[in-house]
Amino acid sequence: MKIIMLGAPGAGKGTQAKLIGEEYGIPHISTGDIFRMNIKNGTALGMEAKGYMDQGLLVPDELTVKILLDRVAQEDCKDGYVLDGFPRTIPQAEVLDRELDGLNDRIDFAIDVDVPDENIIRRMSGRRACVSCGATYHIEYIRPKQEGICDDCGQELVLRDDDRPETVGKRLSVYHEQTQPLIDFYQQKGILRTVDGTREMEEVFAEIRAILD
Ligand code: AP5
Repeated sequence: MKIIMLGAPGAGKGTQAKLIGEEYGIPHISTGDIFRMNIKNGTALGMEAKGYMDQGLLVPDELTVKILLDRVAQEDCKDGYVLDGFPRTIPQAEVLDRELDGLNDRIDFAIDVDVPDENIIRRMSGRRACVSCGATYHIEYIRPKQEGICDDCGQELVLRDDDRPETVGKRLSVYHEQTQPLIDFYQQKGILRTVDGTREMEEVFAEIRAILD
């Protein structure tokens, strides 16, 4: 099964994509996580991506598309994957479609996690991310067992640089301008499913499971 997660920054795409990956035994692929891992490791790609990310802008398609296509060509993706944060522009979606067409394959579902902008601002300021594995928590809604420490790997939880309030507004406007048109794109292909992302994490996941099953 090949799934795309759509939704504004902070809508809960990553949270749900992780659950989907675990439930269906498919890799959860986040382009944001790939960039953050490159930043942490000080690679040239990471340094270039950081300049865009810290301003709340998208990393250019030329950089992003190659990374994603290389990742989905790996052996663990042969039975499917859940993409979190890709595609984020119509050109990215078209490249992915062309690539899959060439393999006689296609995306099964594009799931839009719908959350209004007002809720997003509250979620982002409370999000804490693991410096090591990228797992995300929320200081109010999704707490780690021990404050400030990742349940998965025991490393420190921090506020992401791009979750500072001054950057979140920019990310939201970039989302509305460049990413939201993908909702129509996948609607026209008949594979769009919208879930109400304002509910509890478990309720959102139950709705997604009902769609995928
Ligand atoms: P990326 O990491 O993809 O960031 P994003 O899309 O902005 O999404 P987020 O990770 O911020 O949010 P999310 O929807 O995954 O929410 P989460 O589950 O964490 O990208 C970062 C940057 O990389 C981009 O700005 C761009 O520069 C670059 N980039 C990445 N991909 C790119 C691409 N394809 N092209 C170009 N550039 C690209 O949840 C948010 C918070 O809410 C958490 O604290 C969580 O615990 C909490 N939460 C989740 N669900 C619930 C719930 N139901 N109720 C209450 N709280 C909840």
